[in-house]
Amino acid sequence: MRKNILLPGHKELRYIIREIVKTAKEVEKYKPVYWENIWDPIEKWEKIPTWMKEIIKNACDKDEVYGYSPTRWHQKAINYIISKNPKLTENDIIFFNGIWDAISKIYKALSFDSRIIWPNPAYPTHSSSEAAHANSFHLTYKLDPNNNWYPDLEELENKVKYNPNIVWILVINPDNPTGAVFPKEILKKFVKIAKKYNLFLIFDEIYEKLVYDKTNKVNLSDIIEDVPGISMKWISKDLPWPGGRCGWIEVYNQDKDENLKQFVKTLLAAKMVEVCSTTLPQYVLPDIYESKEYQKYLEKRIEKYKKRADLAYEVLNNTPWLKVIKPKWAFYLTVILDNIDKTKSIKISDPEIKKIIYPQIENTSRFDEKFCLWLLGETGVCVVPLSGFNTGIEWFRMTLLEEDEEKFRKILELIKDYTAKYSK
Ligand SMILES: Cc1ncc(COP(=O)(O)O)c(C=O)c1O
Repeated sequence: MRKNILLPGHKELRYIIREIVKTAKEVEKYKPVYWENIWDPIEKWEKIPTWMKEIIKNACDKDEVYGYSPTRWHQKAINYIISKNPKLTENDIIFFNGIWDAISKIYKALSFDSRIIWPNPAYPTHSSSEAAHANSFHLTYKLDPNNNWYPDLEELENKVKYNPNIVWILVINPDNPTGAVFPKEILKKFVKIAKKYNLFLIFDEIYEKLVYDKTNKVNLSDIIEDVPGISMKWISKDLPWPGGRCGWIEVYNQDKDENLKQFVKTLLAAKMVEVCSTTLPQYVLPDIYESKEYQKYLEKRIEKYKKRADLAYEVLNNTPWLKVIKPKWAFYLTVILDNIDKTKSIKISDPEIKKIIYPQIENTSRFDEKFCLWLLGETGVCVVPLSGFNTGIEWFRMTLLEEDEEKFRKILELIKDYTAKYSK
């Protein structure tokens, strides 16, 4: 008899942010869809600035960008990165093709029983990949919506204390989906716990440049002391260039931890099999970041997103059935359905849309997944259920990216009016 080709953990691998797109595309045949599910600047009509396109076009004239680059990094990119951070050497950095590439190589290189504990809710690329690799349930610590989405460090400490399989702590800061940015005192406590229990730290810092209040911005490299750790950095979001699939990891204190040093060697070997990461984004990265236009451009975007966050807070937080914690950085907002009647299911009026939505609803027992499908079917607003972020919390995440402010207000009003139908 033929062997089963499926891995035991295959069902853990889900990416609900894109799963909902198929249904929304069907709905779009009958009514306009407001895409609030994913952050893609092109999808949201954000224009890539001419100065950035010029830098990329000029690079395309150079033959060298069409070749392989060294496995670890392109020399131009690495010179720039280490010039900005004296704690790093060339050996501490490896480039990857998008965060999925880094995450999958890191998690595949881990021994099966060395587990990562991550925030709850968590960005699913991390949590699903690790749980699928370990063929086990997710291990999480809570981010508390009643405390600005800050982590429950007592829970974290108890879990690492009693589960010897936990060897890594993952922190996403700034955080997706909650919009939280953790203050220095909290970040230092992660370091303290890692030190006390001899653990590694992984910080996903891909949104670090998009924090509203710069005094609030603390990176792993500022606080790590002598704890072994990895920080993930990306160009997807702040340039923006998500289709460039380019980012890098920075490794801290591998000279103090032989196990980490060997682990990095394994990662490098895995990368070598693939040869290298994409050359062009690495080649232009320093020119873009060092351009005199970049800082102005970034600040303008941050200002725009902050305005959207304020508007969302003003419209959605003014009801007894919705709760919003003001995000501390651009892009995402988690909406909490606070005082609602889950026994209600608001009928979808359009018979054609009903045919699309109802079979999907039958596939899930989660209220938030059902709710997001009803919302999509009735209003065209496409958001992501929070259960897609591997959490038991049933709320939803939307983006703050809509270019057109009036349209954004309309989307917020649609959400507010629709959710009102569920209020107790
Ligand atoms: C916390 C976090 N890490 C990683 C990623 C993935 O980034 P990329 O699209 O560059 O792979 C995202 C994307 O939304 C994210 O929110």
